[in-house]
Amino acid sequence: IKSLGVLCSGGDSPGMNSAVRSVVRTAIGLGIEVYGIYKGYSGLLEGNIHKLSLSSVGNIIQRGGTILDTSRCEEFHTPGIRQEAAHILSRKHIDGLVVIGGNGSFAGAMTLHQEHDIPIIGIPGTIDNDISGTEYTIGFNTAVQTAVNAVDNIRDTASAHARTFLVEVMGRRSSFIALQVGICTGAEHVVLSNQAIDYEKIVNDINKGTARGKTSSIIIVAEGEKSGLSYEIKDTLMTQYDLSVHACVLGHIQRGGRPTALDRLIASQMGYAAVQALHQGLRCHVTAFNKGEIEMVPLSECIRGKTESTEAQLELIRALAI
Ligand code: F6P
Repeated sequence: IKSLGVLCSGGDSPGMNSAVRSVVRTAIGLGIEVYGIYKGYSGLLEGNIHKLSLSSVGNIIQRGGTILDTSRCEEFHTPGIRQEAAHILSRKHIDGLVVIGGNGSFAGAMTLHQEHDIPIIGIPGTIDNDISGTEYTIGFNTAVQTAVNAVDNIRDTASAHARTFLVEVMGRRSSFIALQVGICTGAEHVVLSNQAIDYEKIVNDINKGTARGKTSSIIIVAEGEKSGLSYEIKDTLMTQYDLSVHACVLGHIQRGGRPTALDRLIASQMGYAAVQALHQGLRCHVTAFNKGEIEMVPLSECIRGKTESTEAQLELIRALAI
């Protein structure tokens, strides 16, 4: 290929900039022209496309957000709209795409490839870590670290006042963030996404801790379909169990901030691998991270939804919250 486009799509995640930098520098090093497509698929449809140079991506490896901006583009579900996108790419002489994003972005990439035969490499970028075919997605580690820092702060005040806090973390339908945060903050209980809430167990875990002299309790809540679940749990605990609890929704602070070294490292490796893959003729793959290494996995394997194995992590949380 002679030129490629790179875009970020869906929710941003810390490390996306490190990946963009890596894509641009690797491509230029191989003699491939690079175009930044701004604001995801929406920007592609608007023709918001600009050539990038080595210096366009200077001083961004450490920055959160994405210099390319991003969006959630509902219209991209329509075949005619995807056809328009394909025309725009061909008019701009862009021969291949690197799409950095999550499940929705990858589903869009898959159909665009199937319908218009455009070579596309996906780079998994979402704080949720919920993409199948890869053990890791860029931004997860930073989001977990941000949430852990916040929960540590909450633990200080909770201890000082002998309070119980429900702390809600992001992750949409997945519980990956909640489980890691639960382990790393010594949470007394984790409420998983999309599972019946076991109020008796929550109350029992809190009372058990209080009985053996704990001065605070932290319950991590995976947000589920929409944020605010922790307020509902708080109301039920107060009205039906006569328990006084506080709720705190961490929200979008988890999406911003400087990427950790791990996210910068994996993003740099994935950006490099994505361009090499296009250069070598791969047409519909994802830069997956499995067993400590980057490997190319067919995009079709990365849009199935990730199965969560929660039991081992839950067991650890239970064992240590004794
Ligand atoms: O997918 C990333 C994510 O941050 C989820 O964890 C969260 O549920 C969602 O995006 C929030 O999306 P928005 O910023 O569009 O409200």
